[in-house]
Amino acid sequence: MNTSDFEAWARQQLSDVEQALEAWVPPSAPAGLGDAMRYGVLDGGKRLRPLLVMAACQAVGGNTGAALRAAVAAELIHAYSLVHDDMPCMDNDVLRRGKPTVHVKYGQAQAMLAGDAMQALAFEVLTPEDGASVPPVLQARLCALLARAAGHAGMAGGQAIDLASIGQALDEAALRDMHRRKTGALLQASVQMGAACGGCTDMAWRALGDYGAAIGLAFQVVDDILDVTQASETLGKTAGKDQHHNKPTYVSLLGLTAARRHAEELRQQAQTALAGSGLGAAAGVLAVLADKVVEREN
Ligand code: IPE
Ligand code: IPE
Ligand code: MG
Ligand code: MG
Ligand code: MG
Repeated sequence: MNTSDFEAWARQQLSDVEQALEAWVPPSAPAGLGDAMRYGVLDGGKRLRPLLVMAACQAVGGNTGAALRAAVAAELIHAYSLVHDDMPCMDNDVLRRGKPTVHVKYGQAQAMLAGDAMQALAFEVLTPEDGASVPPVLQARLCALLARAAGHAGMAGGQAIDLASIGQALDEAALRDMHRRKTGALLQASVQMGAACGGCTDMAWRALGDYGAAIGLAFQVVDDILDVTQASETLGKTAGKDQHHNKPTYVSLLGLTAARRHAEELRQQAQTALAGSGLGAAAGVLAVLADKVVEREN
């Protein structure tokens, strides 16, 4: 797939996802909670997880209405994880997506509650009561994939390891495990939710799972690299925080050059998995997204 085809595809998907987020994140939750939720979710972020859901769904010829709900749900879990990640009890960050963090703007209690409500909303969006737009069996499957990626085995578990590892030198296996959980699991689940919206062969399902695991880990390796190499203005979040907080990262473990090489290896793994999916040209957008994960500058 060439760059202009990809860009046209991405523009269309991003417009659909933005509209859906705008419609489903409530303006009028009690006592200002809706404002904090909307501030944390709308108008910002690369929306990579939604793009992965939509690309995987389209690669397997799936139900795009269901995929749009899964895309919004994945972004809601992600946005909630960022709101909590930035709080003083975690990474204590004041800048996110080029704006003051939610707790800076609305206070810590409201930030905590906004994150809680975003997480619940993700599962509300996946379970429309009409049952027609998303058949109940698919609703259950999507909820299961997302819950496992968000909870103790995935993001929340990884974040617990992250906080418990401050000041420690993790070996590569331990660092990989932390990164797979805190970041990789949700990216992998985004791909899997998209694939679950269509009729996917076992071969394609396994290949897309491997693809998701590779780009999921690559994404956090690159996040570790960008924290060192980019300016806060480019990132939209404070640069240099990992070293400042003495966090173990791929850069602190391997150095910049080897960390970059590792991200490159993971990109190759992702492309190899796609090549073995049997999806052929239908997986073209996913191939470009793997490149973007590794080549991105923010
Ligand atoms: C940042 O994720 C947090 C990590 C999981 C590394 P993104 O880089 O996808 O953040 P946004 O959504 O674009 O702001
Ligand atoms: C965050 O990792 C992973 C999450 C689950 C939010 P980081 O703490 O490195 O993310 P940034 O750098 O603050 O975006
Ligand atoms: Mg963190
Ligand atoms: Mg952080
Ligand atoms: Mg980071």
